[in-house]
Amino acid sequence: MSTLPRSVLVVGSGGREHALVRALQASPARPRVLAAPGNAGIAEDAPCLPVAADNLRGLVELARRESIEFVVVGPEVPLSLGLVDALTDAGIPAYGPKADGARLEASKIFTKEILQKYKIPTADAAAFASADEAIAYLRSRPAPIVVKADGLAAGKGVVVAARHDDAEAAVRTLLAIPARPDSSDQPSRILIEDCLVGEETSLLVVVSGRDYVILPTSQDHKRIGDNDTGPNTGGMGTYSPAEVVTPALLDRIDREIVRPSVDAIATEGIDFRGTLFIGIMLTPNGPQVLEYNTRFGDPETQVVLPRLKSDLLELLWAASQGELKGYTLAVHDHHAVCVVIAARGYPDAYSKGDPLTLPTSLPDHVSVIHAGTARDSTGQLVTAGGRVLGVTALGSTLQEAVDAAYEVCERIECRTKYYRRDIGARQLHRQP
Ligand code: AMP
Ligand code: GLY
Repeated sequence: MSTLPRSVLVVGSGGREHALVRALQASPARPRVLAAPGNAGIAEDAPCLPVAADNLRGLVELARRESIEFVVVGPEVPLSLGLVDALTDAGIPAYGPKADGARLEASKIFTKEILQKYKIPTADAAAFASADEAIAYLRSRPAPIVVKADGLAAGKGVVVAARHDDAEAAVRTLLAIPARPDSSDQPSRILIEDCLVGEETSLLVVVSGRDYVILPTSQDHKRIGDNDTGPNTGGMGTYSPAEVVTPALLDRIDREIVRPSVDAIATEGIDFRGTLFIGIMLTPNGPQVLEYNTRFGDPETQVVLPRLKSDLLELLWAASQGELKGYTLAVHDHHAVCVVIAARGYPDAYSKGDPLTLPTSLPDHVSVIHAGTARDSTGQLVTAGGRVLGVTALGSTLQEAVDAAYEVCERIECRTKYYRRDIGARQLHRQP
């Protein structure tokens, strides 16, 4: 393999990026790790430079100025705006797909067309630009039914409607979302999709052309409330491994979904070098694709990375250099859980700037990952986003990890803190 980079810039400011920074710093190659723009927690671990994740020119300049040898891009927006294209043009190696690959996340209609063309299992769906046509179609399908904005919508683009009336309202709301984050002049489109029933799992796959490595399995908790109630969020907690994905099922997912997806993307002429995050519904008719994301999941990354024995830097570098063939991943046996602490009110309106006090000492194997945090003018740690922190714990059993995470969640002081109390409960109850 080519020589590992000595300096790495992580782009983004969430919990995923904090987890990436820590895992890259743990590399035996001991790279210098920087972040842009980062957050208050990342700043305790690595220099943070105040360049926004969507400022493509600013990031290329920063990478040049700091002699960065490798850029790891966290969020979807800079990927879809072409950050990796810009870095590559400037001769700076980067991990993450170019804009053509990022379209697999940035356009749900594009993805659905690929899934259908290559006969990869997924729900039946149709695309519309007109509300009247969309409503006529959805009336012809059974409820519940799913309405999706085509473009990126920061986790607010999907409505699982229990009744036709709710679906009609969603058609109008989602058609109002701009087609692209950088333009409001293109007509918006939506996808209307049959509702799949089952358990969900998130599969993170490091892809390099036709080669790929499947990372440890995990499950997210998408809804805001305990027992999967209330609206969808970016993700309220995760655990890994997801034992519902048995080795035999993972084999089937690999054969029916992962291999065909990676091949389809390459056949479409996309040289994808980055994370393909496949959202999968485990239905009675087998695993089906809900969506592709083209980046690490948040908060899946917070539980998947601590379980890697392999060097993350080496893995991501190999993928970016087209050197993934023959790579074997080493994984720890332990269980990991991440409980997200959100600001009360999220995913709707919530306050920012509320003081936050973290425990002064943490048990071994528990870490507090920062997502939406900042320092105010006095240096006080304050909330600065909907998802504020993630408490990640490792244990030899899931129960041990869950108990350790919640013990720390209770000790975090914040007037507006909110978290689900049932992260991991489904898997725990399944166990004898
Ligand atoms: P997506 O961004 O497409 O993954 O959608 C966000 C969430 O909406 C998913 O994680 C699922 O919980 C739910 N969802 C999306 N598509 C469907 C579907 N066809 N049937 C049931 N739930 C869905
Ligand atoms: N946790 C789901 C996502 O990252 O999209």
